[in-house]
Amino acid sequence: MLKILFYDTKSYDKDSFEEKRLQYPELEIDYLKSELTPATARLSKGYEAVCAFVNCEIGTATVRLLHENGVRLILLRCAGFNHVDIEKANALGIKVMRVPGYSPEAVAEHAMALALAANRRIHKAYVRVRENDFSLGGMLGFNFYRKTAGIVGTGKIGAAMARLCHGFGMEVLGFDKYQNPELDFVKYVTMDELLSRSDLVSLHCPLTDETYHLISRETIRKMKDGVILVNTSRGGLVKTEDLIEGIRARKFFAVGLDVYEEEKRNVFEDRSDEILESSVTARLLSFPNVVITSHQGFFTQEALNAISETTLENAMAFMNGESTGNEVK
Ligand code: NAI
Repeated sequence: MLKILFYDTKSYDKDSFEEKRLQYPELEIDYLKSELTPATARLSKGYEAVCAFVNCEIGTATVRLLHENGVRLILLRCAGFNHVDIEKANALGIKVMRVPGYSPEAVAEHAMALALAANRRIHKAYVRVRENDFSLGGMLGFNFYRKTAGIVGTGKIGAAMARLCHGFGMEVLGFDKYQNPELDFVKYVTMDELLSRSDLVSLHCPLTDETYHLISRETIRKMKDGVILVNTSRGGLVKTEDLIEGIRARKFFAVGLDVYEEEKRNVFEDRSDEILESSVTARLLSFPNVVITSHQGFFTQEALNAISETTLENAMAFMNGESTGNEVK
């Protein structure tokens, strides 16, 4: 029997995991609404495994507390692991397992949806038509057909986005440390060339020390005037203050963000009755050419199914002393 404490549970998580768990009577899961943080890590006493999502804080302090409580497995039900102190976990003998590619198309299709919505001002049109305002002022977009898309990070999601852009009849440029051999239609170029030639720049690399604030005043300056920027990867890739400066300077035709630096407290929560403490998100939302969603790129039926399936397989493999290749070291 493996006892798992499931943090940050939403109703859709529980539905999806409980349906799959029927196949695994060896796994026992208790669900908590709270995120995994140093404060809530204490609740893990008596559990051998914890299950956490992207917005949990699994730094050194949390990992230490989990270790003290006897936890030996962190099941990440997400692909990214920049929020986990992997070195500390491994040093303390805690295994970290993730779901590497649950549905790259889910995120890529959302990236394209943001690019199209921001370009054609769908967010404004929706509100306008509801008010019986059928005018078109301020909603002029541009065709993607025969334009250039720049994909930064051509792994699983970047590759899916590259294929969508190719399908739209765009020239596709790629920048990555490693070239993806499946993408024979992508022209790999330097980051500078990608920035200077792309009409649409879409970010799909992980957040690392190297990619932190990849998009800043310096790189924005190198972009084409009238570019569309889409970020569905991690907020820290874009220096928000510099992005706002660029939007004010009319550098961007449109911006679509599924992730942003300040999202931590907002993500997956209904805060509509609260007075928000920071103004950065509000400032971004005040621009007519910016569309923001709340980290929902992953949120499709197919992705949720794949997440629960792989996470439970990871738990079973851990119990049986097997390796799945989903271990993070
Ligand atoms: P992946 O590991 O398949 O691909 C990442 C690619 O980025 C690799 O090809 C890697 O070589 C490249 N890369 C690494 N460092 C780079 C650098 N400095 N410059 C350029 N390229 C670099 O990962 P996958 O599955 O495609 O996911 C990408 C990111 O998408 C994740 O790290 C995560 O942050 C984000 N994500 C967002 C979701 C959402 O709901 N919005 C859901 C899932 C993932």
